[in-house]
Amino acid sequence: MLEKINQTVAFIKSRTTVEPRVGIVLGTGLGNLTDEIKIVTAIPYTEIPNFPVSTVMGHKGQLVFGTLNGINVVAMQGRFHFYEGYSMQELSFPIRVMKYLGIKTLVLSNASGGVNPTFEVGDIMIITDHINLMGNNPLIGKNNDEIGPRFPDMHDTYDKALISKALLIAEKNGIRCRQGVYAAMTGPCFETPSEYKYVHIIGADCVGMSTVPEVIVARHMGLPVFAVSIITDLGIIGKVVEVSHEEVIQAANNAEPKMTKIIKELVTLI
Ligand code: HPA
Repeated sequence: MLEKINQTVAFIKSRTTVEPRVGIVLGTGLGNLTDEIKIVTAIPYTEIPNFPVSTVMGHKGQLVFGTLNGINVVAMQGRFHFYEGYSMQELSFPIRVMKYLGIKTLVLSNASGGVNPTFEVGDIMIITDHINLMGNNPLIGKNNDEIGPRFPDMHDTYDKALISKALLIAEKNGIRCRQGVYAAMTGPCFETPSEYKYVHIIGADCVGMSTVPEVIVARHMGLPVFAVSIITDLGIIGKVVEVSHEEVIQAANNAEPKMTKIIKELVTLI
């Protein structure tokens, strides 16, 4: 694993002079944050050794290096999902690479279905904790103690100082921000009404199909994590509506400026 990471890092360093401080992973319908990045280098995933080979994303997936609000960042334009058929280790490999490129913090975003009855479509939720319902874990297999511990602690997975800073930024800008627990399921089907009810009963505020594998890998390597979810639909009794991928993208696009504002300011405080 370490050999593969080093090989990929060496390749990337031969292609860009940017030394990123923050790594960013953007979710469904939330890719426009890259418009705010002054791009220095963009490397298509297809050119990066050991990166997962994407069949679904086509030519779109790329690793972008540049500055966001003056801060050196690396952003994944397009993420890999478990439901696309990648292994947990494959889809989270880019996070390992970003860590070894020198990032000090990982910022992630995603779209999710709200199950907290007070939530509305378009809400922004800062993730304070997660529940892994994917039935899998990217750390399964032989552990390399040089990279991280066999049994990583998962308290304070979502960095409290970053959450406080983000809440202050939101308040200052008049952005209403929720906080809550993200449950991850594999997808690709959306949840049944009973499944939405179940995730709410066990303590989640929203449910989605990403983020948790990447966060686990980041915490394995000791990287502080900040993650935001955009509530794009509701799985709440009385509010449940049928949901399509198009509606998810639309709702994410609508809420994106609020999220962009928060992340753009947050990176300067990291
Ligand atoms: N469920 C799972 N994933 C999602 C949802 C949802 O309702 N909305 C956006 N991503």
